[in-house]
Amino acid sequence: MTDAATPIGVVTVSDRASRGIYEDKGGPAIEAALARILASRWRAVRRLVPDERPAIEATLRDLADAEGCALIVTTGGTGPAPRDVTPEATEAVCERMLPGFGELMRAVSLRAVPTAILSRQTAGTRGRSLIVNLPGKPSAIGECLDAVFPAIPYCIDLIG
Ligand code: MTE
Repeated sequence: MTDAATPIGVVTVSDRASRGIYEDKGGPAIEAALARILASRWRAVRRLVPDERPAIEATLRDLADAEGCALIVTTGGTGPAPRDVTPEATEAVCERMLPGFGELMRAVSLRAVPTAILSRQTAGTRGRSLIVNLPGKPSAIGECLDAVFPAIPYCIDLIG
């Protein structure tokens, strides 16, 4: 019998945080939200990557296929700026998209900020992994994760 903690991928996508220009606040905010939400044992598999499609895609593939993360949460790179490519990278590595995740997170965020429509955040599955995009703003992270979390364990059951 194993009581190993479940690995969860925590991916910060940011040019400036990956260059050390500022501190990564998104990754720790994801971990704080997960610690609050999850009752079971888990451990974060952390990654910090620039806004480059090849780097994001390689990271997502590695977390899903080699690290065996059933859940991978990204933060950042979901907006309309030219270097925002997280949704494209997510789509490229996923076999199936789950657009309802983005729809719900935008709807919930819109109650607080009109600019929530600027996030193209999405979700999808790669093998037995569910990948969920969150915006880069730390304050958006708990709000968005709380909104979609009720569907996450069931989704992971369905694809496992
Ligand atoms: N969602 C929430 N809940 N709170 C926010 O402040 N900011 C928006 C949006 N979603 C925001 C939000 C803004 S200003 C942008 S540009 C997009 O997320 C994309 O952010 P990203 O490129 O950092 O992912």
